[in-house]
Amino acid sequence: MRHLLDTQHLTRAESLEILDVAEDMADTQRREVKKLPTLRGKTVVNLFFEDSTRTRISFEAAAKRLSADVINFSAKGSSVSKGESLQDTAQTLQAMGADAVVIRHGASGAPRTLATSGWITAGVVNAGDGTHEHPTQALLDAFTIRKRLFGADSRGRGLDGIRVTIVGDVLHSRVARSNVWLLHTLGAHVTLVAPPTLVPQDVSGWPVEVEYDLDRGIAAGPDALMMLRIQLERMNAAYFPTEREYSRRYGLDARRLEALPDGSIVLHPGPMNRGLEISAEAADSPRSTVLEQVANGVSVRMAVLYLLLAGARTDSEKEDLR
Ligand code: NCD
Repeated sequence: MRHLLDTQHLTRAESLEILDVAEDMADTQRREVKKLPTLRGKTVVNLFFEDSTRTRISFEAAAKRLSADVINFSAKGSSVSKGESLQDTAQTLQAMGADAVVIRHGASGAPRTLATSGWITAGVVNAGDGTHEHPTQALLDAFTIRKRLFGADSRGRGLDGIRVTIVGDVLHSRVARSNVWLLHTLGAHVTLVAPPTLVPQDVSGWPVEVEYDLDRGIAAGPDALMMLRIQLERMNAAYFPTEREYSRRYGLDARRLEALPDGSIVLHPGPMNRGLEISAEAADSPRSTVLEQVANGVSVRMAVLYLLLAGARTDSEKEDLR
């Protein structure tokens, strides 16, 4: 793998390879000494033009556990705020010897521009670009669903026949887009539940069903319910009358939580707006995978950095991971 820019163009085999290597990584994270020597001497740059806490920290932890050097570059307080272009920033990183660049950017397509521009030779990982994609989030979500539903050793398995319902602000959500493509590739059935104003116009080309009523969506018996954050910062118009009204119609409250089938799980990518799209009861319930998602995120990002920077695994490297 040279870059990870989206999930739309990942094959099933590529997706399963990342999930399976992430299983190996998760196993190493249960050891007393969590650090592996695998990426010693490699430099990973976290290039964040948009605010982020958990994604940046997660990539940082992943790179460090593989013994890579990490440089954190955030646009605030950098020369980007003095008007330096993406090209100049990228070329500076290249001159510093970056082997991988993890980029979050407000503009959809910025990671692809970086990867295809010729400005840098480093591998590029998309950590969220505008409303386009957030591939490592979808991979960690799929990993979490697979582990919860199929148990400890689910290596090699897809999500065939699993019903996943994604609820909320689909319009502004790169998490939803990345999940739709990946879940479909892995064989899951995906349903979107949202008010009509928060369903994107191009959804007719997506491999999903659309439902406007959350109670009906829950009555259909999903195996996994993924609640999205209402992205107030990306809203330039009134997409729903009031927060209270949104919460009443599309929030996961205690009553709806009760109505979910036995064994089903609740995901949220964080940060959560407690009381808006998800109630405290739901966020803290045994069905909730929120903290597992955070932990699994480190394993999945270790797998991605590893596949990007260490290339095909030799047998002795595979042994290191066992
Ligand atoms: C997501 C993001 O930034 O796209 N969050 C994250 O990666 N932790 C989802 C969100 O902000 O709602």
